[in-house]
Amino acid sequence: MEYMTLSHSELKVSRLCMGGCPLGGYGWGDVNHSDLIRSIESAINHGVTMFDTADIYGLGSSEETLGKAVANHRHEIVIATKFGVRIQNGITLYDNSSKWIRKAVEGSLKRLDTDYIDVYQVHYRDGKTSMSEIVESLSQLKDEGKIRYFGLSNTSIDELDELKSFNEKFVSFQHEYSLANRKNEALILELQKQTNITPLTWGSLGQGILSGKYTQDSIFSQNDRRSRSIYANFHGDKLLHNLRIVDLLREISEYTLHSIPSIAIRFILDFLKESIVIVGIKNEKQLMSNIESMSFRLSDEEIKKLLLISNFKKQ
Ligand SMILES: NC(=O)c1ccc[n+]([C@@H]2O[C@H](COP(=O)([O-])OP(=O)(O)OC[C@H]3O[C@@H](n4cnc5c(N)ncnc54)[C@H](OP(=O)(O)O)[C@@H]3O)[C@@H](O)[C@H]2O)c1
Repeated sequence: MEYMTLSHSELKVSRLCMGGCPLGGYGWGDVNHSDLIRSIESAINHGVTMFDTADIYGLGSSEETLGKAVANHRHEIVIATKFGVRIQNGITLYDNSSKWIRKAVEGSLKRLDTDYIDVYQVHYRDGKTSMSEIVESLSQLKDEGKIRYFGLSNTSIDELDELKSFNEKFVSFQHEYSLANRKNEALILELQKQTNITPLTWGSLGQGILSGKYTQDSIFSQNDRRSRSIYANFHGDKLLHNLRIVDLLREISEYTLHSIPSIAIRFILDFLKESIVIVGIKNEKQLMSNIESMSFRLSDEEIKKLLLISNFKKQ
């Protein structure tokens, strides 16, 4: 396992972070609860020390499952959860107000069954609350010992100037990034260069398309979000383009003998220096296949080829 320290912090974490979205058991097709628990335990045994979740995943059930599974290892691992998205009367709202942050943190602490959250992340900005108000609310929680550090997610370039005056306060930011979706690449590199905050990538396997197991004929059940066209990686021209990327991953996999998903993950680790890759994992088999990414490096030539094939103009 490779480890690194999150910027502006003393938190040493594994560069592979286990994603908690499937733990919510909602919108990812059939998810087996015992498989999830076993994969968390196995991840810890194999050196994974960072776990990402959010209060909104499965409306709290992702945090509950994670809290139970890591209870015996709480001080060995880092939990990163998120706040700022909530449901009210069936409507999704974005809320970064200090009133909501206080309520949200208590809910997360309870569900995670812990006294502290290691990294508390702003899931999405609400378009109303200023960065200084958010930082003030989070700093108070830090002073009270409820959170250790804070991070950002889905930041836009427009927020860069505002962020720069507070950048030392944040230890991480996360954006969607993978060979299947490089639209945030320039933004991530610029944010990293200007703020030195550690980038975390989500959707690192393009929601699973880069695992190599899907084809043009794959059909998702209705309880799987990927059946919807908004999950573009599995539909139309984008799907065909992604399958060409998978062909190259398969070619590299055949001569390196590393799994297809591990090569897709390794691309991010090698290309985005000092980054952490979050991957959603449903069972131990997927975990082990993804952990393979920790045992090799891609050559410059392979990275060049992957960059070339993944250039999708319509992104
Ligand atoms: N900040 C944000 O706004 C945000 C948004 C989304 C996600 N995230 C975080 O990022 C994490 C990762 O993103 P994601 O879960 O959306 O997508 P992802 O990591 O790209 O894809 C995860 C899915 O790929 C499949 N998979 C994973 N490893 C595999 C393997 N070795 N072999 C075959 N299939 C494999 C699994 O689904 P199947 O087996 O069903 O194919 C898994 O659920 C989330 O869990 C969450 O923690 C953050």
